Amino acid sequence: MIVALLNQKGGTGKTTLALHLAGQWAREGRRVTLIDADPQGSALDWSEQRTREGLPRLFGTIGLARDTLHSEAPELARSADHVVIDGPPRVAGLLRSALLACDLVLIPVQPSPFDGWASSEMLSLIEQARIFRPEIAARFILNRCGARTIIARETAATLGDHDPSLIGQQIGQRVAFAEAARTGRLVFEIDENSQASYEIAALASEVGRLAP
Ligand SMILES: Nc1ncnc2c1ncn2[C@@H]1O[C@H](COP(=O)(O)OP(=O)(O)OP(=O)(O)O)[C@@H](O)[C@H]1O
Ligand SMILES: [Mg+2]
Repeated sequence: MIVALLNQKGGTGKTTLALHLAGQWAREGRRVTLIDADPQGSALDWSEQRTREGLPRLFGTIGLARDTLHSEAPELARSADHVVIDGPPRVAGLLRSALLACDLVLIPVQPSPFDGWASSEMLSLIEQARIFRPEIAARFILNRCGARTIIARETAATLGDHDPSLIGQQIGQRVAFAEAARTGRLVFEIDENSQASYEIAALASEVGRLAP
């Protein structure tokens, strides 16, 4: 399955969730390739940091921030169980290419009414991509949720009636994710019994069940 984490809005958790989904599936024995389709190269930076720290390689990461992504991804997918694409903010051409490359697009959003609105551009891009590939599936993921805040419930309720619908497993606002980003680690490598680790494992299993 080719899964792309996309949202033209910056900082919603695309890289964090791409790395953690890839890492979780790799940990479970799947062959995973991560494509860094963001010219900022944050996923590549993370994997370099990892190498510097002498941590084991969990999955291969390649930089492919090009509009030809959709013609190159299927080839990469042949030698992997899952390909995870970490998308760019803003860059429309790259975003379109990533959309055409994937079977499933995951749209991380933060529990704020403003995020819902910002995603409407994302939704029209998905509609356009479906003209060429009607089978593309899409889901929202609520990221950085506080402890049962009203705003998270409201966002969930708003997105509940939507296509794309919302993934059931939400990801909390947790310092472990920031620490993981900084140290080239994944949350399960910091503490495998943490809430963050459980959330990621549950998310990866829910997303895995959406495989075509
Ligand atoms: N669930 C979370 N809890 C705490 N911090 C988080 C969480 N998710 C993401 N972050 C932090 O928020 C910041 C933005 O996350 P991330 O880089 O994953 O977003 P992005 O969508 O990839 O951003 P960009 O659009 O710039 O590529 C990072 O510092 C990251 O560590
Ligand atoms: Mg990013």
